[in-house]
Amino acid sequence: MSSRSLLCLLVALLSLVFLSTAIKNREPYKCSHGSLPKHEIPRVHLADSDPITKRSVTGENFNQRFRIYVSYDDNFQTGGLTPLVQQSIRTIINNITSFYESVLTVRRTPSPIRLDQACTANLEILVPPGTPLRPCYYQCTNVTKCLTATIPPEHLLRCAQCYGSLDISNCNITGTDGPGVSNTDFVLYVTGVEENCGEGTIAYATSCQMEDQYDRPIAGVANFCPSVVNVFNDTDFIEAVAKHEILHALGFSSNLFPWFRFEDGSPRTERDAFGRPSIVNGAYVADENTVKVVNYTNWETRNGPINKTVSLMVTPNVVDVGRRHFNCSTLEGVQLEDQGGPATIATHWEKRVVENEAMTGYITVNPVFSNFTFALLEDSGWYKVDRSKASILVWGRGDGCGYTAGSCGGYISSKQQQSQPIAPFCDYLNHPDVTQYSCNVDRSAVGYCNLQIYNNTIIPAEYQYFNSGANFNRSAPLDNLGGFQFVADYCSYIEGSSQYVCSDPTNQPATNSLAQTYGTGSRCIEHSGTWQVTTNTGSLTLQNTAGCYQYTCSNSVVTVTILGQSYTCSYPGQVMEVDQMTNGNRYTGAIVCPSCVEICYDDFENCPEAAKLYGEIAIPPTTSTPTGPNSAGSVLPMIGLLLVAATSVLFINF
Ligand SMILES: *[C@@H]1O[C@H](CO)[C@@H](O)[C@H](O)[C@H]1NC(C)=O
Ligand SMILES: *[C@@H]1O[C@H](CO)[C@@H](O)[C@H](O)[C@H]1NC(C)=O
Ligand SMILES: *[C@@H]1O[C@H](CO)[C@@H](O)[C@H](O)[C@H]1NC(C)=O
Ligand SMILES: *[C@@H]1O[C@H](CO)[C@@H](O)[C@H](O)[C@H]1NC(C)=O
Ligand SMILES: *[C@@H]1O[C@H](CO)[C@@H](O)[C@H](O)[C@H]1NC(C)=O
Ligand SMILES: *[C@@H]1O[C@H](CO)[C@@H](O)[C@H](O)[C@H]1NC(C)=O
Ligand SMILES: *[C@@H]1O[C@H](CO)[C@@H](O)[C@H](O)[C@H]1NC(C)=O
Ligand SMILES: *[C@@H]1O[C@H](CO)[C@@H](O)[C@H](O)[C@H]1NC(C)=O
Ligand SMILES: *[C@@H]1O[C@H](CO)[C@@H](O)[C@H](O)[C@H]1NC(C)=O
Ligand SMILES: *[C@@H]1O[C@H](CO)[C@@H](O)[C@H](O)[C@H]1NC(C)=O
Ligand SMILES: [Zn+2]
Repeated sequence: MSSRSLLCLLVALLSLVFLSTAIKNREPYKCSHGSLPKHEIPRVHLADSDPITKRSVTGENFNQRFRIYVSYDDNFQTGGLTPLVQQSIRTIINNITSFYESVLTVRRTPSPIRLDQACTANLEILVPPGTPLRPCYYQCTNVTKCLTATIPPEHLLRCAQCYGSLDISNCNITGTDGPGVSNTDFVLYVTGVEENCGEGTIAYATSCQMEDQYDRPIAGVANFCPSVVNVFNDTDFIEAVAKHEILHALGFSSNLFPWFRFEDGSPRTERDAFGRPSIVNGAYVADENTVKVVNYTNWETRNGPINKTVSLMVTPNVVDVGRRHFNCSTLEGVQLEDQGGPATIATHWEKRVVENEAMTGYITVNPVFSNFTFALLEDSGWYKVDRSKASILVWGRGDGCGYTAGSCGGYISSKQQQSQPIAPFCDYLNHPDVTQYSCNVDRSAVGYCNLQIYNNTIIPAEYQYFNSGANFNRSAPLDNLGGFQFVADYCSYIEGSSQYVCSDPTNQPATNSLAQTYGTGSRCIEHSGTWQVTTNTGSLTLQNTAGCYQYTCSNSVVTVTILGQSYTCSYPGQVMEVDQMTNGNRYTGAIVCPSCVEICYDDFENCPEAAKLYGEIAIPPTTSTPTGPNSAGSVLPMIGLLLVAATSVLFINF
């Protein structure tokens, strides 16, 4: 080979090194669900006259595999989505609806779904649940929308218009009921318009009508933002976002928590004569048996403990999952997000607590739909959930009571006092440099400790944790020190880089100096020492400290496969020498063997230790028999005006 081609090779290899030092994380994706315009969700009475869907004697049971009917709005084609993107969104929607249909079971919807018509000026007369038609104080509007979708007239009920009278017996019934949507439990309208699309918003979804017997959402909308999805070239990520958003429409939303039901169908939150939950400051609020505000009294900061007020989801299945997951039999509830503004607050899991759970407010690498989210759906009282379809959440598993009920700073110092590892957190002030790469907690990606200095930004005192760390001391700007994900309470942890997600084959580097394999069956493994690649024209030393490699487990023994050659580990932590020739290149270096539970956590058969940690953790039985207040009582005539949640929705009570 000529000296010129040697030069080319070296330039190629060196530029790879240069590029990898420059690699940065994609900005976390922020969900915008919570900042959608607030609206009163109409509750529709579903008649029970249809002989086909009429309830059986046992009809109150969860007897129907969930059925979603998808209706594409005209604006899906005309709103700006390119034809190619429309096609890929249809596939995404099919994928997502099959997922939810395979996981959820409901009480059979007793009739075709026919939705309420909207009223002019949003003025409607309040009626108790069970009233066949909800009358408009003046008139019905000609067009009824589900946020960005126009509901087809065939999906609508007749209209009762009262022309300014509260005497509903005199209201005029106009039109006839549409045929509605038969054999379905949820109508999902799909739109493609720029409305409500903030900067970078990929998609959002919300529910827009519910039935009045159990208050289960029966219609909702998912909108895809053309300006972003037309140019965003990652359908898997769009699908992950849309799946998250549609779950908001199905139940995971602070707007819906006050409407949750006990398993027997009675309301968790006390209702008034019109079936409405309590109203505080113009918004419906869930009772303390659902969302509870508590003070964590031992929240450690670098200046000592403070009290921190948090909101917990305290419903029974969520609490049970939390107790098992964290191995904490006294866990009171699972914390909801308290940062990120109205878009994310209260309507997601706290990211510090369940980092890569799919229903945290900022979507980062490897989002998983875990038992936490499935349990919340179950606790809505609207669904039975096939929990066997839940994915394993590695983050926080078995970390104990101190982990959830305190700050990461407190957790880190208590672990350090016991000379134990501080994972999932880290205290290494980093620059994204190949020599400091490591594996994230579930080894789904190569990453690095995301502790950084926020230049010109003082971190709120409650989130300042460090007086010193692995590579810094009091001379560091401690008021500006925190993890990259502020929404995880500025806690620092090994954060997987989106360019280094092991399961994604498109991450495979063209010049494969580290002999990595990206794709299914690949997870992150750390190196020991430097890595060398030698060709017959030259040699290059790489400082990278982790990479993605294929792995298998058998009888608890981990085998790592590097470019087709197997390396079988003898014990966790073993430094395994790598020295092999592939395609005329010689690769030398060493990898650090993980334990089977660290890398094969989802392979119970070949790693019994994983079954032990991630199977059911036995927790001492707890006595929590929720008692449900039932809303009974007579409907007293009442006239009043009520403004709900910063919108122009007015109600006339009578
Ligand atoms: C839909 O699901 C199939 C099978 O799970 C998968 O292969 C495909 O990539 C998914 N499509 C999109 C657009 O994500
Ligand atoms: C609704 O439709 C009727 C008749 O089609 C029309 O007279 C009326 O102006 C429309 N109202 C609105 C608000 O568009
Ligand atoms: C109600 O409808 C009837 C005929 O359908 C009409 O004669 C009457 O004026 C309407 N009432 C009001 C208040 O508009
Ligand atoms: C989208 O990604 C594919 C494969 O990763 C690539 O072939 C294509 O050129 C990309 N398109 C755009 C517009 O970036
Ligand atoms: C939490 O603490 C605040 C003041 O720090 C206090 O006003 C509030 O009542 C406390 N809440 C609970 C539930 O103890
Ligand atoms: C935290 O709350 C507890 C009990 O409510 C109180 O005794 C204590 O003084 C508070 N601590 C601080 C630092 O405010
Ligand atoms: C989810 O919960 C169910 C029921 O408790 C359990 O059988 C299953 O193993 C759990 N799944 C995961 C991934 O933890
Ligand atoms: C749970 O915690 C207890 C002590 O609190 C410990 O003995 C047990 O091993 C832990 N179980 C798991 C699976 O971590
Ligand atoms: C803060 O400034 C330093 C020095 O200019 C820079 O290296 C670092 O990247 C900056 N940090 C952030 C978070 O912007
Ligand atoms: C603190 O860190 C600085 C810079 O990293 C170092 O020069 C200094 O010696 C350290 N001080 C102590 C007391 O460790
Ligand atoms: Zn969200």
